[in-house]
Parts: sequence; C-alpha cells; structure tokens
Amino acid sequence: MSAAAANPTKPGLEDVVVSPSEICFIDGHKGRLVYRGFDVDGLVAQSTFEEVTYLLWYGRLPTRKEMDAHVKALSSTANRKLPPKLLAMLRLFPKKTTPMEILRTGVSALSAFDPDAEDNSREATLRKSIRLTAQMPTLVAAWDRIRSGKAPVGPNPRLSLAGNFVYMMSGRKPTPLATKTFDVALILHADHEFNASTFAARVTAATLSDLHAAVVSGIGALKGPLHGGANEQVMLMVEKIKDPGKADRWIRQALADKARIMGFGHRVYRVEDPRAKHLKRLALELGRQAGSTAAVEILDIMARVVSAEKHLFPNVDLYSGAAYASMGISTDEFTPIFAMSRVAGWAAHVLEQHGNNRLIRPRSDYTGLTDEKYVPLAQR
Ligand code: SDX
Repeated sequence: MSAAAANPTKPGLEDVVVSPSEICFIDGHKGRLVYRGFDVDGLVAQSTFEEVTYLLWYGRLPTRKEMDAHVKALSSTANRKLPPKLLAMLRLFPKKTTPMEILRTGVSALSAFDPDAEDNSREATLRKSIRLTAQMPTLVAAWDRIRSGKAPVGPNPRLSLAGNFVYMMSGRKPTPLATKTFDVALILHADHEFNASTFAARVTAATLSDLHAAVVSGIGALKGPLHGGANEQVMLMVEKIKDPGKADRWIRQALADKARIMGFGHRVYRVEDPRAKHLKRLALELGRQAGSTAAVEILDIMARVVSAEKHLFPNVDLYSGAAYASMGISTDEFTPIFAMSRVAGWAAHVLEQHGNNRLIRPRSDYTGLTDEKYVPLAQR
C-alpha cells in the first residue's frame, strides 16, 4: 500500500503532531502561551528577555549566580560586536537592500567568523546561541545606520539587550518605557511551538546541520507575510487608512473584496492571541508618549469589525508595529525585530532536536504521470 493510501494528506500539515517537545505549549482554545511551564503573562510581568532565553535553553529558571553569568555573556562587547570584516561587507550592499535580506545574509556570514561553527555539541551550540542572540540586534541596527548614511553605533555592555538595541538604532540613551517595551516585545516573540520558521529550523537541524544554518532557514521562513512578515503589512495598511474615521469603511470594503487582513487569524488560536493584549497596551502607552494613538484606534476598529464579521481575532502581529512605529522605527525593521527575539526559540528547538534526533522526512502523495516512454529529441 502506498504511503498516501495509508496516510491521508493534511494540507499545510494542519494539526499534524510531528514530535514531542518540552519547550512551548499553546492552548488554541483558551488562548494560553506557556514557555517551559511558565505562562507568558507571568513572564511579561516578572521576567526579562535575558532570563527567558535561559529558561528556553536550559528548561528552568536560573539561580542568581547563573543569571549573572548569563547576562554577562549576552551583554559582553565581545559577544555583541560584529567582526570588522563583516561590517565592511555590509557597506558593499546596495542601500535599498531590505533589513531581512541583510539579516539572512549577515547571520550566514557570521558562521564564517564563529570559532564553534562546525561544532554541534550542546556546549558549542549554547555558546553560539549566546553569540547569535547578542549579535543579531547589532547587525539589524548597524544596517539601519549604514543604509541611512550614518556610522553604526557600537554596543553598550551596560545596557540590557532591549535597551542596547534602542541605543544602537538611535544613538541616544533609551527611555525606560522604550526599554521596557522592547523587553516585553522580545519576551512575547521568543518562541511559539512548531510555527513555520521554527519547524524550518528543526528540519535543518534534523539533518545534523549547524545552528547558523538552522537560523538562516528560520529567517527565510519568518520573512513571509503569512508569518513574521505580517507585522510590516499591518503597518502599511494603517498608513493607507491614516484616519480612524475612515477605518470602519476601509475594513468592510477589504472584507467585501475577500482580502486577507494581515494581523488577524491564526493556525492554532481560535480566540485572540494572548500576546496581542500586551502589545496593544505598549502601543497605546508609546502612542500617548509620542502624541498620537491614531494607529491603535484604527487597529481597534478593524479588530471589532473583523471579529464580528469573520470571527477572526488579532494575532501577535496586529499591534506590534504600532508600538515600534511610535519609537520612530521604520516599518521594514519590524520583522527583523521579530527574528532578534525568535532566535532564542529557534536555538532552543535546535538544541532539543540535536538532543534526540531523527531525520525529518515526510512523504508526498504522488499525483503525477507514470510509465512514460522516452522519445529521443530528434523525434519530438
Ligand atoms: C505568525 O504559527 C505560528 O505560531 C505563527 C506565529 C508565531 O509566533 O510564530 O504566531 C506568528 O505568523 C502570526 C500570523 C501572522 N500572519 C498574518 O497575520 C497573515 C494573515 N493571517 C492569515 O493569512 C491566516 O490566518 C494564517 C496564515 C495566519 C493562518 O491561516 P490558515 O490556518 O492556513 O487558515 P486559512 O488560510 O486556510 O484560512 C481559513 C479561512 C479561509 O476562509 P475560506 O477560504 O475557508 O472561506 O479563514 C480565512 C481564509 O480566507 N482567513 C482569513 C484570514 N485568515 C484566515 N480571511 C481574511 N483575513 C485573514 N487574515
């Protein structure tokens, strides 16, 4: 019997359970997100992104001593700075190159400078996880400065990962609200079970390829507008609508046109994504500080209409961009920011996959031709 006859196909692998995992649990009906047993609402209120990376990689919260060592490793200039030759390489790219292309290319290039690049041991992969988590914000910020004709701002080891990113992007000391916003956004985006980019990273790791290769796979998958690229598309929608007074009519027309509305719907959540409420709160706080909450007002009107008309609810991508935009961050930096956080989850899943590996290799239901006779070219 063929593989297809024994196993009916599931488009998009919907609800297909591939393997056990201890990293992240999502309750799609109750709208719950749990990292290693800790509800994300509690982590947002009491933890930091640095502590969440430790939790994801080691499976438990760190002791004070472990946390101090972990933060020191993530903050050190040695781990945050980019190799000078890679910075020189960035300057060779056309200024129109998108931040996601630079991130994908830059992470790939970083493996050439990483002393543990070809070592897949748990210890080496943990060292690489620290370096990549520390370097990716520097890479994103450096390109934003270079493409704007400014000199990159070197990392500040005295600032948290979130605060340092805001500092390297702006060249100015970050405000407490900006730092807190970024830290919460990084916590919220850190992991999400077998989402498309994480699964891409696991498939890569399952061939016994290395962490950098798996992260490049993840970045490639995250870029798409059906996944991490949605946050940029949401902001482009808000910029088109501009005035909250026009939002209701605009969204009803979009639904009438059968358009796919970015920021809504999810493969797993059947209710509102539990991350959306936190990002909405931050977007509102930052909008008030920046003097305009129009973006959030537009998104709220859209959410009311889309939920009522399509029974589709906000996902993580709906409000995140409004928060970043209030901090003066360009729309095409939103998905790279998602990646700077999700690298923590990708690394956790690579560690777990390598720790108990089996090559991931599904089958297809072959529907093509069979038993064709070859006709020489001269007779065709
Ligand atoms: C992320 O997987 C994860 O966990 C991802 C993520 C993470 O943290 O890693 O949560 C991050 O990627 C969030 C999702 C970001 N993407 C978007 O916001 C893009 C817009 N959303 C949709 O494209 C869609 O909801 C998906 C892709 C997220 C999920 O789609 P599914 O499960 O494949 O569902 P589907 O496309 O088959 O749609 C089912 C029905 C269809 O209607 P019918 O054709 O059956 O009549 O719902 C409709 C769809 O048309 N639908 C939408 C819609 N989402 C689903 N209609 C309009 N707008 C939408 N956003």
